[in-house]
Amino acid sequence: MSLNRLDKLIALNCNVSRKEARELVKSGQVKVNGKTVLRSEELIDTSLDRVEINGHDFISKDHIYIMMNKPAGVITATKDEHKQTVMDLIPGALTRRSLFPCGRLDRNTTGLLIITDDGEFCHRIVSPNHHVYKTYIARLTRPLDEKSIKQLESGVTLTDGSECLPAKVKNLSDDYTYKAQIKIREGKYHQVKRMFLAVGNHVDALERIAIGSLKLDGALAPGECREMTDEELGLLFEDDG
Ligand code: URA
Repeated sequence: MSLNRLDKLIALNCNVSRKEARELVKSGQVKVNGKTVLRSEELIDTSLDRVEINGHDFISKDHIYIMMNKPAGVITATKDEHKQTVMDLIPGALTRRSLFPCGRLDRNTTGLLIITDDGEFCHRIVSPNHHVYKTYIARLTRPLDEKSIKQLESGVTLTDGSECLPAKVKNLSDDYTYKAQIKIREGKYHQVKRMFLAVGNHVDALERIAIGSLKLDGALAPGECREMTDEELGLLFEDDG
């Protein structure tokens, strides 16, 4: 059971401020279990109580989890004065005041990005201690030899002296392109690019295709997003081997 103040729930779910939420309640526009409630401090159990605003059922969720197929050219930030951010791509129906990207993809990196308002959940995904692997496909400018794979798999040292945890690497190169799949569970600045640099290679395109066992939904075009299902949330914390 999770109890939350009525004004907090309305603000979180309806994209309004706490003050606006309190006004909605005070003016008699909110019913809980069929009765008008005038106290914003009323505690609500989202799994049991039915909340209506102006006669419309309000689907209450404590948090929201959005899967985005991040396109190239958009920055992973909550706001920026000049550049387009991933937040600018979220449709109104999914927007909440306290959303933020969970982890960071570089401006030219594409693929799976999660956006949420749940800080604890995000910490579990990004913290290396929780062992959630992120899978990337890197297009390389040079062939990937066995020696480089071994180095990446035993943990390379970046040019600034910082050490990386061992990665899991597969060579996916074919006759036309040099490509690798790399799984890491940290999120250092430009980490994948710098790891390949540390073994004398260069990444010229990077896509994140999975987090844990959750794969990017192939039906999402670049720039599109949708709310995640409970099943997908569970996959994030499953190891895909
Ligand atoms: N590593 C990088 O170098 N860039 C990203 O965007 C993500 C991981």
